[in-house]
Amino acid sequence: MAAGKHIGKVVLEVCPEQPASPTTTEVFPLVPAVPRLAAHPNMVYLITGGLGGLGLELAGWLINRGAKKVVLTSRRGINTGYQRLCVKRWNASGASVRVLTQDASTLAGAKALLKEAAQDGPVGGIFHLAVVLQDALLENQTEETFKLVNKAKGDGAVALDAASRVYCPDLHLWVTFSSVACGRGNMGQTNYGWANSVCERVVEERVKAGLPGVAIQWGGIGDVGVLAETLGEIEVGGTKPQSVRSVLECLDTLVLAGSPVVSSFCLASSSNKSDGSGGASLLKAVANILGIKDVSKAPMGMSLGDLGLDSLMSVEVKQTLEREADLVLSATQVRDLTLKAIQELDQGGASPSQETIEAGKSSSIPADSVLPDSNMPQPWLTLPLVPEKSIAVLREAGASRVPLFLASPIQGTADPLLQVAQDLDRPVYGLQYPPNLPNKSVKNVAQILVQELLKVHPSGEYVIGGYSFGTAVALEMTKLLESKGCRPSSIVLLDGSQSYVSGIIEGYKSRLSAGGPAKESASTNQAQEQVEVLMVFAMQFISTDATTLKKYLLALSSWEERVNHVAKLVTQRRAAVGVTSQNDVQQAVKAGELLYERLRAGSEHRWEGHVMAPTLLVRAKDNPQAAALGHDYGLSKVMKGSLQIEVVAGSHESFVLGDSGRKVASILQTFLKQTSGLSNGH
Ligand SMILES: NC(=O)c1ccc[n+]([C@@H]2O[C@H](COP(=O)([O-])OP(=O)(O)OC[C@H]3O[C@@H](n4cnc5c(N)ncnc54)[C@H](OP(=O)(O)O)[C@@H]3O)[C@@H](O)[C@H]2O)c1
Repeated sequence: MAAGKHIGKVVLEVCPEQPASPTTTEVFPLVPAVPRLAAHPNMVYLITGGLGGLGLELAGWLINRGAKKVVLTSRRGINTGYQRLCVKRWNASGASVRVLTQDASTLAGAKALLKEAAQDGPVGGIFHLAVVLQDALLENQTEETFKLVNKAKGDGAVALDAASRVYCPDLHLWVTFSSVACGRGNMGQTNYGWANSVCERVVEERVKAGLPGVAIQWGGIGDVGVLAETLGEIEVGGTKPQSVRSVLECLDTLVLAGSPVVSSFCLASSSNKSDGSGGASLLKAVANILGIKDVSKAPMGMSLGDLGLDSLMSVEVKQTLEREADLVLSATQVRDLTLKAIQELDQGGASPSQETIEAGKSSSIPADSVLPDSNMPQPWLTLPLVPEKSIAVLREAGASRVPLFLASPIQGTADPLLQVAQDLDRPVYGLQYPPNLPNKSVKNVAQILVQELLKVHPSGEYVIGGYSFGTAVALEMTKLLESKGCRPSSIVLLDGSQSYVSGIIEGYKSRLSAGGPAKESASTNQAQEQVEVLMVFAMQFISTDATTLKKYLLALSSWEERVNHVAKLVTQRRAAVGVTSQNDVQQAVKAGELLYERLRAGSEHRWEGHVMAPTLLVRAKDNPQAAALGHDYGLSKVMKGSLQIEVVAGSHESFVLGDSGRKVASILQTFLKQTSGLSNGH
């Protein structure tokens, strides 16, 4: 063209013209073709949930495919500038895009919606995208959460199917967006999986009846939509987010596939293997599940059990190994697997040999070797082992302001909350669990602490809260105080809830009973339980080969011997960083005993009833328990008042320290200002 040798038009011949004779025997070359959907300009295309992330993309795509009449539904109508801009642009380009708020999740609503849509012309396509999520582990789901999630999706599909059979005789497309949460399953989404399953069954019935219908099971979708907005680029059901561009590119194929249920997702493993990490994908995936950020610094010889694998993580690791490496292991084998064995798998090993698995159970590091440095954060190392008093003053200034009472984590002392307290503008009291406090049940602890609180603060407004295990104590205290007519102005919960405590304890319990109570004698089970508790205690302070230490402790014959051994290790490690006192070993023994009691109390704690006060939950972003507990940690079930949820960077231990701790304090400060004066005081 630059040389001016032709006029600038190029004609491509796909294949030579064939003779027109119908009797020709010549075999024509096959040219692969991708079907392309054509939307009818006179027909109306309806998208439920059409103002959502994918709904807007789909509307643009349909208009590109020739649609001129589009109806989008939403419960709230246009409420963002981007939604307004899209609709304005489409209308300016010659299409007619309307937003309707009729609720299609009832038959009457669906009929009204279709009648209204049909004002613009015959309805040619229905795309059912409306969705509401309420993620939580099955044990934290209720009939209500199932109904809520199924309403928009499942009930909507049933109602739209019935109504469209009457009102839309010209329909050529009936599409519902389903999810791999239904096809492959995704943790915390049983209700969502079920609602999608309802949609898919509706489609199957339609297809059987000769009506158009297709359900597309998507994996996670990136860039826009509910996943991108709430969780970002995470794996869902073993899939990595598919870009929205790719979603739109494969829509023609999927919509016109001719099968009732089709699927599109990007397997997470393929992304990892192509990331140049030299095939370290399985190791990374497992490390990710365990919450290990930098796998290069992780102790490769330690078993997953010793690295903190709980029951939920164990299921995830098991599924990952089955999916990615075709390796089926028992829960016990998963627990005993070392990171090294997983690395071997990544490097091409067919499956780790029994010897490699067994390697997780033995080590040459002596049982009482306490390594000076650690890859694990140990923020408790220098803190008091046992608190002396049930109330610690964390901050005194700002006496004119409403005081805040914060219940301590399971370690019993409120010291880890010192930094957050210092950044607040009011008196802050730590509620602690000294040795003389009956630890037998969370309710028991709460009762005593309520008495202590009322001694310090007999009247006037106050705020209650807790950290980790302390959140269950704080909620029980609130319930008690509210029953006495002394409602706190608000509740602040730091990375915990009533479900958080039981969830962790269940994790420990599943480890304790992994051998199966039927297989082990009662004394073996008891010894294992003691060792697990002491490992939890020890690993807060020391860094050593946990497997060897565990074996060593199991070989000892009594609780006294075990706790004394761990107490010596803890004291030795604390002395190495300059923390010494005369009775440090006895203190460590006491701390181990108290932790055991509180773990028992936590495992037996069952929540009943409700609390009224407005509540703030601040979650630690890197807490591996979060995925299992759901966005609200199961708190919505407990609250009658409002619930605000914030997420701050860091692990369960580190998010109250440093910059994250300052962020936590600033969130608390804003919340406390907004909620002061709302209570009836006492
Ligand atoms: N994003 C993903 O990664 C992904 C993956 C797999 C499958 N999917 C599926 O794709 C579809 C679209 O998802 P998305 O990511 O676009 O979600 P989204 O951004 O949350 O949009 C969903 C929209 O549904 C609307 N809605 C909820 N209840 C409704 C009702 N009763 N009637 C009408 N509208 C209602 C909501 O708007 P209002 O609050 O204004 O009503 C919301 O904007 C969903 O069906 C989802 O299950 C998405």
